[in-house]
Amino acid sequence: MTTRSETSGATSNPVQNVKIEREGRVLVVTFDRPDKMNAMTGAMYQAATQALGEADRDGSIGAVVFRGAGGTFTAGNDIADFLAASRNPEEVSAFAFIKALAACETPLVAAVEGMAIGVGATMILHCDLVYVSPGVMFRLPFVDLGLVPEAASSLLLPRRIGLAKASELLLLGEPFGADEAMRLNLANGVVAAGKLKAFAVEQAARLAAKPRAALAATRRLIRGDREAILARIDEEARLFALALRSDEARAAFAAFLARKPN
Ligand code: COA
Repeated sequence: MTTRSETSGATSNPVQNVKIEREGRVLVVTFDRPDKMNAMTGAMYQAATQALGEADRDGSIGAVVFRGAGGTFTAGNDIADFLAASRNPEEVSAFAFIKALAACETPLVAAVEGMAIGVGATMILHCDLVYVSPGVMFRLPFVDLGLVPEAASSLLLPRRIGLAKASELLLLGEPFGADEAMRLNLANGVVAAGKLKAFAVEQAARLAAKPRAALAATRRLIRGDREAILARIDEEARLFALALRSDEARAAFAAFLARKPN
């Protein structure tokens, strides 16, 4: 369980590698596993999912900011966990987090620097405001890993940036940086890395100060049909579970885990 100290307003849980802090009415969720580029483990997804639930239940929380420690957002799902899950796909806890993101009533702001790979890239599609550092690098390497897209990115990305560009990003897995993220309307602004967290929290605080019900209703209206998004997440999860067991996926995971340091 992640618990938040009301006196200090911060929690650092070294086991779950997710830090939860309060800054006024804003809950800041920091992926905190810098030695592994904040690659997401099951425990990290659970902690982040729990934080979203807490944000929705706690009337004093008006917005959530996601960020990563150590100058990077996240290098995506932990590949060793993927390999383990290839033997037991039901255990992929990313999907509960993804559904919680899609269903969350609290405004979400992302502060993205360094690597934003896999779920690090797809989760921004569920964030209301996205700020990136000049050196950010996004990548959606699902096909190269023998996998399929998740987080309803197969629905939301073409809808957002058009089929041609979504095909480049999802089929070729081409990386893209801050300029492209802005050009594609995937980000709201580019902010110097040293100021990114403070700026994201400031913007989140502005959202948190708005009339709550009106903001929630407006979010629902502009984000589109939630049921369709949740249904796509389920459909992707079904295909993802099959792909995880495939020889091509296992070979890709094994190749990553066996690679030599530069
Ligand atoms: N899962 C598990 N470990 C990961 C990881 C991941 N997704 N991404 C990075 N790491 C670990 C590396 O294994 C390494 O750990 P080690 O020092 O114990 O060997 C550490 O993080 C640093 O990564 P490294 O690869 O040495 O840094 P780099 O700067 O050369 O490359 C990346 C950075 C992000 C380009 C590269 O690590 C990478 O491609 N990661 C996998 C990304 C991915 O495919 N994610 C899944 C998306 S679905």
